[in-house]
Amino acid sequence: LSRKVEMTNWEKGHYINYKGLSENLSIVRKRLNRPLAFAEKILYSHLDDPHGQEIERGSSYLKLRPDRVACQDATAQMAILQFMSAGMPSVATPTTVHCDHLIEAQIGGAKDLARANDINKEVYDFLSTSCAKYNIGFWRPGSGIIHQIILENYAFPGALLIGTDSHTPNAGGLGMTAIGVGGADAVDVMAGLPWELKAPKVIGIKLTGQLSGWATPKDIILKVAGILTVKGGTGAIVEYHGPGTETLSCTGMATICNMGAEIGATTSLFPFNDRMYDYLKATKRTAIGDFAREYAQELREDEGTQYDELIEINLSELEPHINGPFTPDLATPISKFKEAVKANKWPEELKVGLIGSCTNSSYEDMSRGASIAEDAMAHGIKAKSLFTVTPGSEQIRATIERDGQLKTFEEFGGMVLANACGPCIGQWDRRDVKKGEPNSIISSYNRNFTGRNDANPATHSFVASPDLVVAMTIAGTLNFNPLTDTLKDKDGKEFKLKAPTGDGLPSRGYDPGNDTYQAPPEDRSQVSVAVSPSSDRLQVLEPFSAWDGKDATDLPILIKTQGKTTTDHISMAGPWLKYRGHLDNISNNMLIGAINAENGEANKIKNILTGGYDAVPAVARDYKKNGIPWVVVGDWNYGEGSSREHAALEPRHLGGLAIITRSFARIHETNLKKQGMLPLTFSDPADYDKISPADKVDLLCTELAVGKPMTLRVHPADGKTFDIKLSHTFNEGQIKWFKNGSALNTMAKERAS
Ligand code: F3S
Repeated sequence: LSRKVEMTNWEKGHYINYKGLSENLSIVRKRLNRPLAFAEKILYSHLDDPHGQEIERGSSYLKLRPDRVACQDATAQMAILQFMSAGMPSVATPTTVHCDHLIEAQIGGAKDLARANDINKEVYDFLSTSCAKYNIGFWRPGSGIIHQIILENYAFPGALLIGTDSHTPNAGGLGMTAIGVGGADAVDVMAGLPWELKAPKVIGIKLTGQLSGWATPKDIILKVAGILTVKGGTGAIVEYHGPGTETLSCTGMATICNMGAEIGATTSLFPFNDRMYDYLKATKRTAIGDFAREYAQELREDEGTQYDELIEINLSELEPHINGPFTPDLATPISKFKEAVKANKWPEELKVGLIGSCTNSSYEDMSRGASIAEDAMAHGIKAKSLFTVTPGSEQIRATIERDGQLKTFEEFGGMVLANACGPCIGQWDRRDVKKGEPNSIISSYNRNFTGRNDANPATHSFVASPDLVVAMTIAGTLNFNPLTDTLKDKDGKEFKLKAPTGDGLPSRGYDPGNDTYQAPPEDRSQVSVAVSPSSDRLQVLEPFSAWDGKDATDLPILIKTQGKTTTDHISMAGPWLKYRGHLDNISNNMLIGAINAENGEANKIKNILTGGYDAVPAVARDYKKNGIPWVVVGDWNYGEGSSREHAALEPRHLGGLAIITRSFARIHETNLKKQGMLPLTFSDPADYDKISPADKVDLLCTELAVGKPMTLRVHPADGKTFDIKLSHTFNEGQIKWFKNGSALNTMAKERAS
């Protein structure tokens, strides 16, 4: 294991350290003396202190040393701005930045890319120069979607990666523990500090049997999402195992891991197998595959592993599923879907089918999709609905261009979009329906919260495999089951679509396409990073102020949110993405999507100073101007969705002190702590109902201590004062963040001393 094998073909001198990992692991093995899950092996082999670290699944905080960091362009801006404020010459952990989120889909790949280069010039210049300055690999716009680039170039079995995007777990398809984090976590690791993660529980999913016909890897995760729901994976790594895992392609496993984000899982993971080896070989990394084979024993679960929860799925019996609308865990098998459409009065006509994205744009996905389109065209028919194709990377785009699938999709009526997120993240200038008009779309993406794709709250967005998306697009209706129903050919004759087929890997190898990578220069001393003070897109960060050491009294409740409050509700994407590097400007979207429990409306709350109703950011700014800190009261799983630290930075910037909820999504909870805020939960979740939006509260901050509840004193607008107990998950180190005003302030303070 002491050979020197590079982690990636794009860098020199960053070697895979299986030897060190195996040494760490044997230390932990002696201590724990029990069979270990694969996820545990990866995490524990990356411990900063394998001898002393306390390890209890579900409770200890692990201090870890990730192998790599990856940032997408929307989150990289704030991460790098924060890194800059720490004053270091170079990143301490190999890091890459990927331009994929800021390209809006409008009229097709090349033109949309040119427009994005123009509109985002300032941001791309900032990222390109700051990456060059701080020794970060930079993937230019057009290179592809971060998770696809990671899978193709950087993921390797047994590694630990953190990425500033919630679908980072995609790399689990290559046996890597890849975890979505906030930009603030990325900054820590870029700066060489250990990264902290609450030791996850491990949910085992045993796969048996083999997929066939219309069933795809996507259907595995659609089914799992239905079983576990959007909360079911919280605090856990989902670990697939069993003989069924050997039958899936590496990219198919990546799809499953990618969408594990939708059940709130810390990450998802597959054991190293021959299919991963094949993929490493196809992506010119045979040396890594061979090295992994030497370490293979530690690249899977131990025999007798005890999972915290175990689910078994027989792939031979798995039906294709369609999930949605509005939530990814509403899973309906295709055989029941028509009934569900009728019963729920979902708009039957299918307006748009969208394939690709980081979730489903592998060579296999594209080949299978193209086989269905070809079948339809052989019968003289094409897509009835609008149809878009988003290649996950330049390599995929160039390869399917060479091999003909791209042409097939175009002839079928498809529009090929840029190698970027596009409609998946709301970067979609959709023109076929008006805002507010109820309509249905179906995509092979992963996420379908209200308004995510096209900012139209009346759009019913469904997610499915690319195969089903293509089939439904031909039918133009949700009332179509390709497994049982017929279509009419150009002469009105009925025919049934053939089950899709396609190669897992391109038989002629991948075509790399255009060169879109910028390596950092050898001599970086001359590179300068410019941020214009007049920019409305980039703003140098000022440190937040430290805690005043006192209890906070007489705080207004800015908003009591009701139901789902996702990071999309807290800090909307779409048009707001352009302000990701400018905290003050982007704060104008704070909580504008959240539903006010008082009136059931979004972005309409009472300003206690004026008595009138106004937008959430406007009221928060008014309180801030008057020196009044405020709190938010929220429901279950507050902050689910993405790793967006803006959802934590904005309330901090606009003067918030605490977010008090029934429960939090993990990443968002940590992000709030990093920014010096107090994420607190009702010790009795029923207390949520005791608070009315018009109440005032005192928060006894001086009580903040590890493992101790805090008191919330509620002064109802009409009634007697009463106390409520609040719980929290702060540890010693995190309490310092609150006291110093933020994690970054703490880092700067500790570096100075
Ligand atoms: Fe991009 Fe995330 Fe979709 S990386 S393609 S927006 S899920």
